[in-house]
Amino acid sequence: MPAKEALIEVKNMTMAYGDFILQKNLTFTVDKGSIFTIMGESGCGKSTLLRTLTGLKQPATGNILFRGIDFWGSSHKKRVDLLQQCGVLYQSGALWSSMSIGENVALPLQQFTTLSRDEINDLVEIKLALVGLKGFSDYLPSAISGGMRKRAGLARAIALDPEILFFDEPSAGLDPISSRMLDDLILELRDSLGATIVIVTHELPSIFALADDSVFLDSESRTMLTTGNPKVLATESDSIKVRQFLSRSTSSPIGKTKTNNEK
Ligand SMILES: Nc1ncnc2c1ncn2[C@@H]1O[C@H](COP(=O)(O)OP(=O)(O)OP(=O)(O)O)[C@@H](O)[C@H]1O
Ligand SMILES: [Mg+2]
Repeated sequence: MPAKEALIEVKNMTMAYGDFILQKNLTFTVDKGSIFTIMGESGCGKSTLLRTLTGLKQPATGNILFRGIDFWGSSHKKRVDLLQQCGVLYQSGALWSSMSIGENVALPLQQFTTLSRDEINDLVEIKLALVGLKGFSDYLPSAISGGMRKRAGLARAIALDPEILFFDEPSAGLDPISSRMLDDLILELRDSLGATIVIVTHELPSIFALADDSVFLDSESRTMLTTGNPKVLATESDSIKVRQFLSRSTSSPIGKTKTNNEK
């Protein structure tokens, strides 16, 4: 196996809305080429962490390093450069409803590249084919299914061939089969693009199918309880909360329970 290389390092970070401290002392590393999940109960701050990692929200304290470069300590121009290497699918999905699927995918290419209209059209077709939406370029988002809209969102997120992809609950609201297909697609994208993927999800099948690594945010203590491979954490974590979270379903690798050092 290739040596691990840190792509994103979060160091002692606190996130807050005004005086309300949402999460404190967050410290974890996302390795290059890994699939990293952000886990935790509803409202613990997963989407806020994703927004903080993608430059939409500044941490109250602490640092985020991209390949050793301090993101928030950098100039605006440097931050924009770094963000152009990232593709994001936010929780709300947010395709423009009045624009066709193809126009939605073309948007970042028009905004951030100097490619001609024909070149952009070719790339849009390639990206749509990659997510299994060949031939749907002219459809409006309202004319395709929820699973197809998620895949269109993925096509837009990968439009600029990003090095890092961020997905917030990509399979929320999908039936188990569509959700499984989306997981397969995410694995394929990681392999074909060589991308690093940070994904918010609380779907256990997705967590176990995808994640090499993770962080678990706790709403009660307002900090992370652990970081590591969820398959290992499911049985080995010192925290009973983490083990319980990861063994809600019989399809998960439920194993021995611990009695010592419970958190
Ligand atoms: N813009 C905001 N201003 C103030 N508080 C906010 C804002 N956005 C989120 N919050 C609060 O921060 C907390 C965490 O929200 P966040 O959306 O990050 O949680 P989450 O873990 O993604 O939840 P879910 O699993 O439901 O998506 C919530 O209590 C929410 O009310
Ligand atoms: Mg959320």
